[in-house]
Amino acid sequence: MDSEEFTSRIPGFYNLSIAERQAHLARTLGQSGVANTFDTGGLDPAHADKMIENVVGVFALPLGIALNFLINDRDYLIPMAIEEPSVVAGASYAARLVRDGGGFHAETDEPMMIAQVQVVDVPDMEEAIGRLYEHKAELLALANQQDALLVKLGGGARDIEMRRLDTRLGAMLIVHYLVDVRDAMGANAVNTMAEQTAPLIEKLTGGRVYLRILSNLADHRLARATARVPKDSLAIEGYSGEAVVRGIALASAFAEADPYRAATHNKGVMNGIDAVVIATGNDWRAVEAGAHSYAAHKTGTYTALTRWDADANGDLVGSIELPLAVGLVGGATKVHPAAQAAVKLLNVQTARELAGVIASVGLAQNLAAIRALATEGIQKGHMALHARQVAAAAGASGEEIDDIAAKLVAERNIKIDRAEELLKESENG
Ligand code: MEV
Repeated sequence: MDSEEFTSRIPGFYNLSIAERQAHLARTLGQSGVANTFDTGGLDPAHADKMIENVVGVFALPLGIALNFLINDRDYLIPMAIEEPSVVAGASYAARLVRDGGGFHAETDEPMMIAQVQVVDVPDMEEAIGRLYEHKAELLALANQQDALLVKLGGGARDIEMRRLDTRLGAMLIVHYLVDVRDAMGANAVNTMAEQTAPLIEKLTGGRVYLRILSNLADHRLARATARVPKDSLAIEGYSGEAVVRGIALASAFAEADPYRAATHNKGVMNGIDAVVIATGNDWRAVEAGAHSYAAHKTGTYTALTRWDADANGDLVGSIELPLAVGLVGGATKVHPAAQAAVKLLNVQTARELAGVIASVGLAQNLAAIRALATEGIQKGHMALHARQVAAAAGASGEEIDDIAAKLVAERNIKIDRAEELLKESENG
């Protein structure tokens, strides 16, 4: 790809037909065929039959491209698989605002996953923990024998941690393996390590092992992103830039302090995050579990995953931090043709780069939502998009769609029968 010519800022993309949008992507990416993979969802039943059990078909979602993303000084086109209107437009809008402030800055931890081993009926807890520490090197070596390829790629089990856990069914010894999984999501690698080393753990502790499984609270694998928006970029009709910055900071403070609001605030964050996680064939349930457990665990009360404030200059600054266990190798990312096309479109080289992009999209999505909520409300934008869908469903095409949609919104009557009437009137007149 010629990065000099490549930009994610594509004015008018919205008004193009699907074929024109695909042609534009093929031209700018220099990759013919990538965008066409999305035509039918990229997955046929024969492929699907190899992925899960009892397949009777496939289930499609719309795939849209969020524009304007500048992350660590690089432009990205963001593939988003989602059924909800306004999300792709919201992310693109917020990314344009952040672009005015120099773009997103993202950084990530090493791709370190946790595998948990639950040991019960331990005769002497102190002694058992001591013996595991003494045999740490042996345990790590045995864990690493399970995945020679991962070790060859520079990953592998790095450390073990032990902890006594008092539960209603008595004390348990919980062992954590910390495993660098490189460009994988890592579930298979760490689950195998936990299972294969369990007999040695039983021998060393004299206890009995039950569960051997990863933790989705992947808090050694955090992704962070920050953004700045000049206050003047935020001014809209009826609201000064200062007023919008204050409204967004107040929305943030509300979500930081109140779990009821934090749940919805974070849902908005996950609108962006899940859409990219799904498009790239990653496990969105794992990412959801990680995000919400982290939102509760980091302070002890469920809170917001993002934070927004005014800086000394009065401009808006925001940040996000959450676990992002996403991979580029293995799983659906490797076998789903549309996921492969989405990864090509993103042009990310490592799982960490992907995590940084996803964190930035989450921050953008949150900004789009709370900016609208703190000013004109979200229904206005929703209704404008809904009106376009109704106009198209009534048979409008090309420029007619926007004309009819504008009339429906102005009349506050976004109904298909009214759209059909307006269409007839415009055809006759
Ligand atoms: C809707 O899908 C998401 C929002 O509710 C998020 C929020 O309230 O911040 C708009």
